[in-house]
Amino acid sequence: MTAYGAAISGVGSYAPPGVLTNEDLEKLVDTTDAWIVQRTGMKRRHIIGPDGATSDLALPAAQAALSAAGKTAADIDCIICATATPDYLFPAMACIVGFRLGVAGKPAFDISIACSGFVYAVTTAASLVRSGVYRSVLVIGAETLSKITDYTDRGTCVLFGDGAGAVVVERSEEDCFLGSELGADGTDPTVLYLPGGGSRMPFNTNGKFAAERLGYIHMQGQSVFKFAVNQMVASVRTALSKAGLTTADVDFVVPHQANLRIIDAMVKTLGLPPDKCIINIAEYGNTSAASIPIALAEAVAAGSIRKGHIVVMVAFGGGLSWGAMVWRWKDAKVGAPARQTVAGALA
Ligand code: UT7
Repeated sequence: MTAYGAAISGVGSYAPPGVLTNEDLEKLVDTTDAWIVQRTGMKRRHIIGPDGATSDLALPAAQAALSAAGKTAADIDCIICATATPDYLFPAMACIVGFRLGVAGKPAFDISIACSGFVYAVTTAASLVRSGVYRSVLVIGAETLSKITDYTDRGTCVLFGDGAGAVVVERSEEDCFLGSELGADGTDPTVLYLPGGGSRMPFNTNGKFAAERLGYIHMQGQSVFKFAVNQMVASVRTALSKAGLTTADVDFVVPHQANLRIIDAMVKTLGLPPDKCIINIAEYGNTSAASIPIALAEAVAAGSIRKGHIVVMVAFGGGLSWGAMVWRWKDAKVGAPARQTVAGALA
């Protein structure tokens, strides 16, 4: 089989301007800014308006990544979207993004594996490029979790936000994809899930949908917390070992931004210096499949992640699922991140 190298050649991100602060949440549920900061590290989340959909966020993130890679959508061979909150259950959001980028007709599909989606999607893209099937793949992680967040449940509503990030993965002489580890365990899907809207509890379920709040995220927070710390550590170690590297070789870890305490525990257990971990959870909360590419884009824009660096991206989420991947950073730039803020997002 012909084998090619793959590299990330452009990064972009986008967050909607509406902002939901901890003080806003204090008015909605029985919580406090102090509790949220201490237990999660979150201060604000960006929230899309009632008329917005996830592809509205995916599009500017994709355009930023394309321009950073010096490409137009016409140069791309395939589009993959990682999302748990697509515009519709079907068709795939990637089809809509392809049309909105002006390249209807190109192959486009979604990967649905909750917060682990971006790591799965980039690993898939790298595999398609390295095997020679495609030369360049656009990967987008985009979510509007505000659409499935129950703003009467203090146990979940403080956690989630909206946003999008994207990368271009393309053929490269130097192979910068050094290793990856993916996994999933569906023993108990209800640990973290959206009960309604699938075939087990269809939208049309008589009368139950609103009464049992089936259209909102349900989560057993502490079970997810314990799983997350152990699995992120194990995933990073396995991906590094597949790459023939150790934690001493790592320049930056970009973790899924679910809880600052989870990230801190992972960093401590791995024995990494804290300044090697990219954290932006205070600004965005948990944006699921979008959290890693948003943090990656910001770290590249800040000049932290630079050419030659060894970068590990690691996620966990519903499934339960997990994934980590190791990249050598080529010289990918970041497209202008379009970020504005407007108060009172849920007003
Ligand atoms: O992408 C993956 C998505 N999910 C996750 O990563 C979630 C992982 N889990 C977590 O991040 C944490 O478990 C939470 C942040 C969800 C909760 O933090 P915790 O430290 O595990 O709190 P807890 O569930 O043990 O609750 C402690 C107390 C409880 O009160 P009592 O029973 O001790 O009186 C809760 O009712 O905190 C209470 N509580 C709150 N208090 C104020 C729960 N949520 C809130 C809140 N404000 N928002």
